[in-house]
Amino acid sequence: MHFHIISIFPKLFDSYLSDSILKRAQDAGHIQFSFYDPRSVTQNKHKKVDDIPYGGGPGMVMMAEPIITLWEEITKKTLKEKIPFTKKRHFKTILLSPGGNTFRTDMAKSLAQDYTDIIFICGRYEGIDARVAEITGAELVSIGNYVLTGGELAAMVMSDSIARQCNGVLGKRESLEEERISSHEMYTRPEHLKHRGRVYSVPEVLLSGNHKKIDEWRETH
Ligand code: ADE
Repeated sequence: MHFHIISIFPKLFDSYLSDSILKRAQDAGHIQFSFYDPRSVTQNKHKKVDDIPYGGGPGMVMMAEPIITLWEEITKKTLKEKIPFTKKRHFKTILLSPGGNTFRTDMAKSLAQDYTDIIFICGRYEGIDARVAEITGAELVSIGNYVLTGGELAAMVMSDSIARQCNGVLGKRESLEEERISSHEMYTRPEHLKHRGRVYSVPEVLLSGNHKKIDEWRETH
């Protein structure tokens, strides 16, 4: 999977992508990230990427043209590149917006299955000129019922969740665990944890070695 991120703050992604599972997955070639800054294609002297809204109102709106220019570059350029094991590229464009369709694991699964390339358009300010979604055919997606300062965090959350569904990103054991375990209650050593005069013990069933009973317990915890 190739994630293409259109953002005026590409550095925000650095630390999260340079560690742990997502780092390993990039090094192994299972996933790839590319960044595109609308400021790099602005025509004006001050590299302005926003302007006041038509009809009035507070705040600024991100201009359509720099974003469309980058989107066209991505879709044209990457089509020419070769991608191992896949002949045809399938692009999905997602515009992060608090008012969009709510992101869930089943969306992550189908995106990982159906597409080779996902383009995230991250907005800042009050929003993005509505013609961007119209021209690119982007789906508006929200990661939850709250407003963030921009789409970058949302793109990162979605990339992480989609990457987990891509072949090779999780080890076989981790993938199986993800499917199998419904329990959110997990324990590790010590068996008895002392805190402020109280002892917190691991549930007996998990020490029993009886896997049928353990699975039953996990269904309900
Ligand atoms: N941009 C601002 N808030 C957001 C949210 N909750 N989901 C996606 N994009 C956003």
